Amino acid sequence: MMIIRTAQIHDTPAIVELWTETNLLRPWNKHERDIEQALSTETSTILVAEIENKLIGTIMAGYDGHRGWIYYLAIEPEYQGNGYGKQLVQAAEEWLKSRGAPKIHLLTRKGNEAVQKFYAKIGYGISDVTVMEKVIEENIDVPSPINFHNQQEVEEWVRNTVEKRPYRPEFFAAFAASINIFSEKPLNILEIGSGPGHLAKHILENCNIKHYTLLDFSAPMHQIAKNNLGQLADKATYLLRDFKSPQWIDSLGKFDVIVTMQAAHEVRHKQNISSLFLQLRKLLDDNGIFLYSDHYYTPSSKTKHPELYLTKEEQPEILEQCGFKNIVPVLDKAEMALYVAHK
Ligand SMILES: C[S@@+](CC[C@H](N)C(=O)[O-])C[C@H]1O[C@@H](n2cnc3c(N)ncnc32)[C@H](O)[C@@H]1O
Repeated sequence: MMIIRTAQIHDTPAIVELWTETNLLRPWNKHERDIEQALSTETSTILVAEIENKLIGTIMAGYDGHRGWIYYLAIEPEYQGNGYGKQLVQAAEEWLKSRGAPKIHLLTRKGNEAVQKFYAKIGYGISDVTVMEKVIEENIDVPSPINFHNQQEVEEWVRNTVEKRPYRPEFFAAFAASINIFSEKPLNILEIGSGPGHLAKHILENCNIKHYTLLDFSAPMHQIAKNNLGQLADKATYLLRDFKSPQWIDSLGKFDVIVTMQAAHEVRHKQNISSLFLQLRKLLDDNGIFLYSDHYYTPSSKTKHPELYLTKEEQPEILEQCGFKNIVPVLDKAEMALYVAHK
């Protein structure tokens, strides 16, 4: 039996998965933030349809004080054609009516006749209006102090990080130990923002690795990593990809383990981190683990931007919000933490 209920914030991963599957997402939209905002105001909501505890449909509704709007009607493909979409629209109509909306609007993409036919059948006509728009959201990214595409700046960063962060080898060892506890089988590993390959080298030398993919958008970093890995390079692939670009996860396949160190904040704003985590979760095998390590912000941090870094409390919270389970802190040192999180 299908039930309709109000979405909760913990439904976010399932909602984003459904919207991805039904092609509703546009890379420039901040989906997790859209969901959080729709659920946090009195004048908007997201309703979800569930069958046997599986989320199979969504609709978003909002009342702006004058008219009601509906968005994000989605039904899991295998459940389409059973009237569930119509029931979700009716539930959204009831929600809007109860708030006093006298009329409901919705937008469809030009030429999307199937969707227009669906709405026509349940009583919606085409309005004789032109939709105009203006983007008013500014870019929230915190600018990077370093250009990772510049050879000299990269070489200087690598020198500095080795000198200024003598605790890094402890983190490398904790990564390798956690991987060895997870499995002794040959593993397929992806590293995000792999930089000079220091972590890759340690893991390749100390764990059972089938293949190790180093992903970074910096060609100079990859060159340094290749030199560092030497003979180990035959088990490695160097992938030049930008994890902030749309569809960057396409055709990457699945991994047993994803690791990242001092790189997740390179999404350049803490609001962008959940989007990265949700994508990483999709790249994991069902039994896979994510080893996440990054600096955290504390009020006494003099050099850390509060909008760039998560706080110590937020790090596991965001992992959990993104659907990760069994989140275990492994190491916490020099305002940097390492977590193991299961898909
Ligand atoms: C602070 S460094 C850390 C490098 C490495 N994880 C380490 O700890 O030695 C951040 C790395 O992320 C890479 N990076 C930054 N933004 C990126 C993006 N949008 N896509 C892919 N890599 C990125 C940089 O080139 C750099 O190698």
